[in-house]
Amino acid sequence: MIVLGTVADMQGAAERLRREGRRVGVVPTMGALHEGHLTLIHKAKELADAVIVTLFVNPTQFIKGEDFERYPRNTDRDRELAARAGADVLFAPAAHTMYPEGYHTFVSVETITDVLEGAVRPGHFRGVATVVAKLLNCTKPHVAVFGQKDAQQAAVIRRLVADLNFDVEVVVVPTVRESDGLAMSSRNGYLSPADRAEAPVLFRALQRAERVILEGGRDPVTIKSTMEVMIRTGSSAAIDYLSIADAVTLQEQTILHSGREILISLAARFGSTRLIDNVQVVVP
Ligand code: PAJ
Repeated sequence: MIVLGTVADMQGAAERLRREGRRVGVVPTMGALHEGHLTLIHKAKELADAVIVTLFVNPTQFIKGEDFERYPRNTDRDRELAARAGADVLFAPAAHTMYPEGYHTFVSVETITDVLEGAVRPGHFRGVATVVAKLLNCTKPHVAVFGQKDAQQAAVIRRLVADLNFDVEVVVVPTVRESDGLAMSSRNGYLSPADRAEAPVLFRALQRAERVILEGGRDPVTIKSTMEVMIRTGSSAAIDYLSIADAVTLQEQTILHSGREILISLAARFGSTRLIDNVQVVVP
């Protein structure tokens, strides 16, 4: 695996791979790699002959008061894990490389960023869309792989790629979980042992909602209150939102129509640690 840090080196390497006729895959990450990230790299290996992993803790997607400073950083470990998972190139630029002095251009995906994470974290998706656009221009991939764990992010990236005509296929991989159901996340390490023990209630609540819908439940208000009771009685978490929305437009649903793909999602805080999770279901 080669490690690159400048945009010119990355674009040069991407251009060479393409000229050799190789199908290029990219997996953008902020590092602190876990089994979820490694599953994305394995998927990219299946879909492409050369895999680029990007490692960049993107300052523009952290809003004021978030954990940018204390976000876990361990480049040596990430380099080792990415290489072992089969990455051919690790692109790990410095912040001033991606955002040099005089930087003033941002990409803003509208409407679907007004809800859910976007409502609670204003400006977050502007940072995500901007850095993903830049990373696609640096790595020139045929295919880019993302995780369903960040369902709204995946929807925003699909919109970005379609609307700005990026010539890349977007592939979304199912959420990888711990054995007790907790979605893997670089932020799980912040949880106290007591909170870590309670956190799987989030996925259990999502599974309950999914089961209710599959068994004929059609009223999102009732389903959400069932989830709320489960989370409140099973944990000390503060709920940011519970949502039952259209999986593509992310518009909140007031009644569930047969055949519709629905995203059931939530965000909850254990102390200062904010966790998100979701499941997707087609209404029978
Ligand atoms: P990061 O949180 O490091 O996640 C990188 C990729 O891994 C994302 O596509 C995310 O959805 C996926 N991922 C994280 N946990 C996962 C899990 N448990 N199962 C499956 N996939 C998982 O998401 C970002 O970084 C950034 O916003 C980024 C896209 C890199 C832009 O800065």
